[in-house]
Amino acid sequence: MLRTIAIATAFAATASAHCTRPLLKEAVDAYLTAQTTGHIDPFTTHFDNSTWLGYHENSLKVNITSGILTKPLAITHNRSFYDTSSCATFTEVIVNSTTNPYVIGTQLRFTNHKINKVDSVVTRPGDWLFNVTGYAYWTAYENWETIPEEQRDTQLTIRKAADAYLDRFNNKNVTVPWGTPCVRLEGGLYGDSGPNGTCNVGVPSGVPITNRRYVIDETLGSVDVLLDFGNSKWPDSHLFRVETGKLRYVHTITHCGIANCGV
Ligand SMILES: *[C@@H]1O[C@H](CO)[C@@H](O)[C@H](O)[C@H]1NC(C)=O
Ligand SMILES: *[C@@H]1O[C@H](CO)[C@@H](O)[C@H](O)[C@H]1NC(C)=O
Ligand SMILES: *[C@@H]1O[C@H](CO)[C@@H](O)[C@H](O)[C@H]1NC(C)=O
Ligand SMILES: *[C@@H]1O[C@H](CO)[C@@H](O)[C@H](O)[C@H]1NC(C)=O
Ligand SMILES: *[C@@H]1O[C@H](CO)[C@@H](O)[C@H](O)[C@H]1NC(C)=O
Ligand SMILES: *[C@@H]1O[C@H](CO)[C@@H](O)[C@H](O)[C@H]1NC(C)=O
Ligand SMILES: *[C@@H]1O[C@H](CO)[C@@H](O)[C@H](O)[C@H]1NC(C)=O
Repeated sequence: MLRTIAIATAFAATASAHCTRPLLKEAVDAYLTAQTTGHIDPFTTHFDNSTWLGYHENSLKVNITSGILTKPLAITHNRSFYDTSSCATFTEVIVNSTTNPYVIGTQLRFTNHKINKVDSVVTRPGDWLFNVTGYAYWTAYENWETIPEEQRDTQLTIRKAADAYLDRFNNKNVTVPWGTPCVRLEGGLYGDSGPNGTCNVGVPSGVPITNRRYVIDETLGSVDVLLDFGNSKWPDSHLFRVETGKLRYVHTITHCGIANCGV
């Protein structure tokens, strides 16, 4: 019995050692370097080709050699989240440029210490409420610092807060743990009531939010969910900051392929 426990413990330690923050960070740094230079080679050496699920842009599986990564972009902001339980990362990328602006959200998923899936939402002018100046301004203003250990929520609490928010779009009965204050940055539009405002200003209904892919970093109180938004299944990223179980910030980026999603 004791021996079984000892072996189980040793195995758990080995399994989690596969997925440390430094390992994930190294891959994310290679991703950012690729996007900055337009050269994908140093990034692809991190790929696990034997379990490869593909490179995805706005929900489409595409050849990485024809994707955004081969286009050098002058990144002005990046922030990353590391999920050592699921072995996955999320990176928020802003190119605050007047001539060639982008807001990109990228998840990387790992097997065998290596990346086996790249999943990005890439937004440009014309996408839902896109305003790079607004996105860059408010993102820089907000506090996404590490949460002191004794105040951290569990991965489950963080995920439940995000799911309540997303479920609310298709079920009015769901209770969402709104924080006070709470603010939503949608594409580039910030909550009307400013940085100390409320997010509880109404959510549409009859909007199913499906195909959710999570990256949860409890050290930052954060979860990113890549998802299919509504019946049109628009490729979308919802990034949440949760503090003591309640929603503090919500960032959304949505690609629709038609100007402002036809609204
Ligand atoms: C996986 O394949 C890519 C492109 O085909 C290549 O550049 C990369 O070096 C390979 N990675 C590994 C770890 O073999
Ligand atoms: C991706 O495109 C490159 C360059 O055009 C080509 O060499 C490679 O075979 C393509 N890969 C796949 C899987 O189609
Ligand atoms: C990403 O952000 C970090 C921390 O703010 C910064 O040190 C690094 O230079 C940035 N990387 C790129 C490619 O912009
Ligand atoms: C974009 O956001 C900035 C900062 O919030 C704001 O000043 C500007 O009016 C916005 N632009 C548009 C076109 O809405
Ligand atoms: C974004 O770019 C605009 C115009 O180039 C600049 O005025 C603004 O200060 C930049 N925002 C941030 C947060 O750096
Ligand atoms: C919401 O609650 C009402 C009243 O209790 C109930 O009739 C309805 O079926 C519920 N809707 C959902 C989607 O659960
Ligand atoms: C928001 O609240 C903080 C802390 O109470 C305060 O320092 C800041 O000035 C407020 N900002 C605005 C725009 O009201």
